[in-house]
Amino acid sequence: MFLGFPTHGSRPATVFNGYFEHAQNIDGKNYIVFNTCRMVPGKTLEIMQTEIEKKGGSVVNKRTFKGLFRIKMSKVEEFVEELNQELMKS
Ligand SMILES: Cc1cc2nc3c(=O)[nH]c(=O)nc-3n(C[C@H](O)[C@H](O)[C@H](O)COP(=O)(O)O)c2cc1C
Repeated sequence: MFLGFPTHGSRPATVFNGYFEHAQNIDGKNYIVFNTCRMVPGKTLEIMQTEIEKKGGSVVNKRTFKGLFRIKMSKVEEFVEELNQELMKS
């Protein structure tokens, strides 16, 4: 599962809380988590990872995408390439 949120106040945007209240079957799933932010990612990824693990899921990779004006798409493409390489190895 890919799961990403914008950073609000150094944590995941509040829609994140709704996701975890309603999501079923997190148990046993592998997650790739990401956040977007302007400058300060804070503990967004750590908070997401903790919640996923509390419900029995695993975080297999994570990434912050920063951009003062816009997220750099080249960084997103690099991350996808990295994930593809990992998949090829497994
Ligand atoms: C209420 C609010 C709080 C925010 N808090 C942070 C923050 O703590 N750190 C940060 O780097 N960016 C913060 N941002 C910027 C958002 O993370 C950014 O807008 C989001 O990643 C989406 O990017 P975009 O506006 O280019 O679509 C905040 C934005 C809003 C609206």
